[in-house]
Amino acid sequence: KVLEASIDVDVNKVIAPIAPEIFGQFIEHLGRAIDGGVYEEGSTLSNAKGYRKDVLEKVQQLRASVLRFPGGTFTKIYHWTDGVGPKKDRHARPNLIWGGVTNNHFGTDEFIDYSRTLNAAPYLAVNMGTGTAEEAANWVEYCNGTRDTYYANMRRKNGNDKPFNVKYWGLGNEESAEPDAGRLQNVKEFTKEAWFYAKLMKLQDPSIKFILPGADDTWNEQLLKDMNPVCDYISTHYYVSTPKRDVPSSLFGLVDGLETQIIKMKKQIADLTPGKVTGFSEWYRFPPRQQAVKISLDELGIWEHEGEGAYHLENAYNWNHALGTATFYNIMLRHADVVGMATWAQTVNVLAPILTSKTASIAQTVFYPMVFYRKHSGDTAIAAIVKTPQIEMKDAKEHAALDVTATINSKDGSLIILVVNRHAEADTKTSLAGISNKYRSATAYELNAASVLAANDIKQPKKNVVTEKEQALSLPLREYTFKAHSITALVFKG
Ligand code: AHR
Repeated sequence: KVLEASIDVDVNKVIAPIAPEIFGQFIEHLGRAIDGGVYEEGSTLSNAKGYRKDVLEKVQQLRASVLRFPGGTFTKIYHWTDGVGPKKDRHARPNLIWGGVTNNHFGTDEFIDYSRTLNAAPYLAVNMGTGTAEEAANWVEYCNGTRDTYYANMRRKNGNDKPFNVKYWGLGNEESAEPDAGRLQNVKEFTKEAWFYAKLMKLQDPSIKFILPGADDTWNEQLLKDMNPVCDYISTHYYVSTPKRDVPSSLFGLVDGLETQIIKMKKQIADLTPGKVTGFSEWYRFPPRQQAVKISLDELGIWEHEGEGAYHLENAYNWNHALGTATFYNIMLRHADVVGMATWAQTVNVLAPILTSKTASIAQTVFYPMVFYRKHSGDTAIAAIVKTPQIEMKDAKEHAALDVTATINSKDGSLIILVVNRHAEADTKTSLAGISNKYRSATAYELNAASVLAANDIKQPKKNVVTEKEQALSLPLREYTFKAHSITALVFKG
């Protein structure tokens, strides 16, 4: 069966420039995410710094624009001073959140070095569980201090003369009113404490940007009201798992829910223009926020609750998960006006695009759309007008077969249409009759696999089920058939 659809674009209807920060990654001291994943001392696969070379080579392909560390929930017990200075003197601590022991050999300096190797902007989340505002401010001084002061000198003594210039700082993580979320039990308690953190940290470096932890609507509204002058980003964490494992495409209903979540948050931040920041006390000695508040999806991922390792977090992903991943990126691009950052949760072993064993590592299916979107997305989102068939679901909400986003590359005027055909069996013949005749070339880049259940396997590290195709198309291109379960970028150049 072949389905039918149509796509048109309006290059004059610009949604917004795309924030490069949406292509970020997250690493946490959790299970084998860092120790045994990113970092493995003594392994023949590691370099002199302890970084797994095979893993680093794959992480580099992800071209992360931002790297978030050290958690996650782990932030609630992390004391950054445990992870600096000579490794032999560092404090090994029980990982009170996730179990096991963290020897702290991968600490701030290693994280910064790793981020630099990736060319990613570092994003640190501070401890609002067992930590203090002063400890967080000292961390800012350690990272960004330029003067002859104690913690800046500590960094110099540890071999880093130049400041790290860490711009992104998260105030806690998931500090919502859930009973196990942490010490701060309600939004009022949180904002009172967060203001103190913000003040001491900004007095160390007024240029830093804050990411504040979002939660439900009531929490978000109060948080935005109380912390408006220092809220650069409000975060939301979004994980999905397949509701009916025997019906893989039941995943898409939840994946599509990200769009609903973003639209809801868009309304919450809409009125908070910088101009409305009033009554900001001069005693803070730093300016209030100057830019519009943006959403940070600083944990976005697929969490199937079954897998190896700590808390069964070492998920194995099939091609259906890759289609879900591509849809997530389409959604963020469509809402480029408000989504300012996203760090995929996570990067290695834990809910991750990369899996390792002691002797090998693999790129899972979800790795490929991440690389694909980072390579093909233009720099500006534009409007797409889409007519797509719906996929009817037994016992679940129907969803669109095609998920479509359009972008342009402002540097060379090229048009990029990113299409995920989420139908497990049907190709979709799509009219492109409205696309301008002005383009001189068109190329289709397609990612696919033999079926939605195809998966790479750490036990067969050399095998790859994902195929990538490039095809020059003749113009004028009046229609194109998107293959069943494919991810395609149609690139038109002028
Ligand atoms: O990514 C795993 C965990 O999920 C993080 O530590 C936490 O923030 C979230 O609940």
